[in-house]
Amino acid sequence: MKTPFLTGLVLAALAFQPAARAASLLDGYADAARAADAGFAGFSAGRGRALFAATPGTGKPDTPSCTTCHTADPRAAGRTRAGKAIAPMALSVSPDRYADPAKVEKWFRRNCNSVLGRACTAREKGDFIRFMATQ
Ligand code: HEC
Repeated sequence: MKTPFLTGLVLAALAFQPAARAASLLDGYADAARAADAGFAGFSAGRGRALFAATPGTGKPDTPSCTTCHTADPRAAGRTRAGKAIAPMALSVSPDRYADPAKVEKWFRRNCNSVLGRACTAREKGDFIRFMATQ
């Protein structure tokens, strides 16, 4: 009687884990954003959407936007320049995203440099993940 219930609890806890890790990553970005700007008033999904869709024109010519590889639809699979599939960025479709800080940082570094020609700020990173958490 008890075993299926306990198994259910464990499975529920495991399923919830990635979202919890994404949330703790966001806490870290919030601390950094506050340190950089005392007026920081929280992350914004709207700013994250704008960053995702922007074509800043300051990066590499073949990667004008995040949407170049991730497509304009966060729930859709993307494609690398070499044609390799990229799992969707929306947390609702890819619940294991934003759970590994080293992976998140590696790709923010690489992709922000390609698209913006600079690193993303902690606020931009938090905005981006907040947006993807709403998609
Ligand atoms: C040249 C293609 C390309 C562009 C442009 C690009 N990305 Fe990515 N992105 C990738 C690839 C490839 C991965 C790693 C594969 C994966 O996670 O599925 C990735 C992964 C990521 C991840 C890690 C997600 C996780 O699971 O932890 C983040 C965050 C990210 N990208 C953000 C961005 C942002 C922000 C932009 C725009 C500033 C951007 N990307 C533009 C190709 C791209």
